[in-house]
Amino acid sequence: MIVVLTGAPGAGKGTQADILVEKSGFRKLSTGDALRKHVKLGTEIGKLAGAIMERGELVPDDVLFKILRAELGTDKGELLLLDGYPRNVAQAETLATLAEVHPVKVAVHLDVSKDELVSRLSGRRVCGGCGATYHVASNPPRMSGVCDKCGGAVVQRADDKAEAVAVRLDVYEKNTRPVLDYYAKKGLYKKVDGAGGADVVFGRLKGMIDAL
Ligand code: AP5
Repeated sequence: MIVVLTGAPGAGKGTQADILVEKSGFRKLSTGDALRKHVKLGTEIGKLAGAIMERGELVPDDVLFKILRAELGTDKGELLLLDGYPRNVAQAETLATLAEVHPVKVAVHLDVSKDELVSRLSGRRVCGGCGATYHVASNPPRMSGVCDKCGGAVVQRADDKAEAVAVRLDVYEKNTRPVLDYYAKKGLYKKVDGAGGADVVFGRLKGMIDAL
C-alpha cells in the first residue's frame, strides 16, 4: 500500500517521511534522493539528471519510471511512502498501472504558504555524506557546517539557490498541482496543514494516516 506524500518544494515531505519511517513502520522511497545518489555515483542516469536538477526542472518521465520499478519491489503488503513521485499527471497514471501490487491508498498534500516555502528552502542545509537535513534557523547542526549524525560537511543544495527555487516553484504550479486534482477525482486526496513545527505537522499527519 502506498501513501503518496505530495506538496511544493520545501513543504517538508522529506522531513515528515523520515519521522514516519522512524515511528510508523513505513519504507520511504524518495525519487529526489534516488536521483541525487545517481548523480553522486556518476551513473548514466546521474549524468543525464544532474544539470536538469540543478536548474530546478523535472527529469524525464521514462527515467523516473526506471527508478520507480527498481525501488518498488514486489511485496504486496508493504507500507510505502512515496516522496517526490508523481510530479505530473502522466507519472500518476503510470503509478496507477502498478496498482495490483502497489495500490495508492491516499495522496497527502502538505500545504504550506509560498513565503514559508521560500524561507525553508533558502535556509535548508544538507549533509553531503549521509543526506541528513538541517535548517539554519529552525534546526541547525550542533557545530556549524558539520553533520551531527556522521560528521560530514553540511552544505546548501545547488537547487536551493534563489534562481533554481523560483523555477521549482513554477514547475510545481504548472506540473504537480494538477496531480492534486487527479487524486481528488479518485477520492484519494487529503490536505494536511504543513505550517508549524515538524512535530506539530507530524501529529496532524499521523492522526490522518491512523484514521485510514
Ligand atoms: P526533491 O528532492 O523531491 O525536491 P522537492 O520536491 O523540491 O522537495 P524538497 O526536497 O526540496 O523539499 P521537502 O518537501 O522534502 O522539504 P524538506 O523536508 O527537505 O527533487 C529534487 C529534484 O529532483 C527535482 O527538482 C527534479 O529535478 C528531480 N525529481 C525528483 N523527483 C522527480 C520526479 N518524480 N519527476 C521528475 N523529476 C524529479 O524541508 C525543507 C526545509 O524546511 C528543511 O531545511 C527542513 O529542516 C525545514 N522544515 C521542514 N519541515 C519544517 C517545519 N514544519 N517547520 C520548519 N522548518 C521545516
